[in-house]
Amino acid sequence: NQYCVIMAGGIGSRFWPMSTQKNPKQFQDILGTGRTMIQQTFDRISKLIPAENIFVITNKEYIDISHQQLPQVPLENIVGEPVMKNTAACNLYMLNKIEQKNPAANIIILPADHLILKEDIFLKKVESAFEITKENDYLITLGIKPTRPDTGYGYIQFMDKKNETYFKVKTFTEKPDLEIAKTFLESGDFLWNAGIFIWNVKSIKKAFEELLPEMTQQFSECEYNSDAENECIEKIYPKVNKISIDNGILEKAKNVYVIPADLGWSDLGTWTSVYENAAKDDNQNAFKSKHILTYNSTGTIIKLKNNNKAAIIDGLEDYIVIDTEKALLICPKDNDQLIKDYVLELKNFK
Ligand code: GDD
Ligand code: MG
Repeated sequence: NQYCVIMAGGIGSRFWPMSTQKNPKQFQDILGTGRTMIQQTFDRISKLIPAENIFVITNKEYIDISHQQLPQVPLENIVGEPVMKNTAACNLYMLNKIEQKNPAANIIILPADHLILKEDIFLKKVESAFEITKENDYLITLGIKPTRPDTGYGYIQFMDKKNETYFKVKTFTEKPDLEIAKTFLESGDFLWNAGIFIWNVKSIKKAFEELLPEMTQQFSECEYNSDAENECIEKIYPKVNKISIDNGILEKAKNVYVIPADLGWSDLGTWTSVYENAAKDDNQNAFKSKHILTYNSTGTIIKLKNNNKAAIIDGLEDYIVIDTEKALLICPKDNDQLIKDYVLELKNFK
């Protein structure tokens, strides 16, 4: 009764210009491990869940690349969305499909672009989460101990109860502003939402019905896993609300529980998060190849189109310098969340 949904429809625009609409980061080998982010996600969870129970939900534009990169996943499990509507819609769509196959299913939701160094702990936590959702109508998320006041994450405050592996969530705040993130971090009571959720069909269905009734109604019009599904989905998608599962469900639901998990986790969502995981030189500059000379520069990420290209950099502190075939980015690391907005204004180079 265990299923997995890998969400892989984002375009990773905070990670421009490496990640573009044509080639989003989840399909790239960002850290040079030999496997792309989505392949690593699959490799990890396939130790627990058979490939025929693993689904990928992505934009229809990325069905082919998903299939090429994950040949083990049955093609009918790679599901395409006609429009990007953020993560509430893609979860509801997959929920309806899986419910039609198995109303007693327990589902783990995985983002396609996370680094998890401690795989054994990850698998143990997921197993214990499934034990909980088999017995309880809880919405479970994995919580990570925060290390910086990052405004790109959800923050979870939990109710402290000794001697338990999981805790009831008191508040869930998606992407707070910097001041609030700082107070959360200082208070020591908060965890980051890893964006990895575990629930049973019944409990998440109920949450959608209560919290996103209009969307639930729209999706209920389709007949899932039938010949008519595609056409129906094409019809409803343009009309559904664009909202994340975090804002739409997790912030509001009353039955959210968190399992704290020390996973060696990182959302490779921004240049800063990649920087933290990259090899650095004595001046804490990352990704430098041998023809890049730096002077009076520290904490800077410098990535050029190829290793034979030379660069001289003087006087940059905590910057991001990324050069690709088609684009150049120079931005202070502190502004890395804004790259998403900047990219919206680019016309032809997304
Ligand atoms: N199918 C589909 N459709 N997938 C999507 C869509 C969509 O419209 N939008 C995003 N995704 C996928 C992305 O590819 C990624 O794998 C995952 O869903 C999460 O989306 P992000 O856009 O990366 O979310 P986030 O990083 O801003 O925030 C989420 O993750 C954080 C931790 O990484 C939230 O859950 C935060 O609360 C959390 O802290
Ligand atoms: Mg992310």
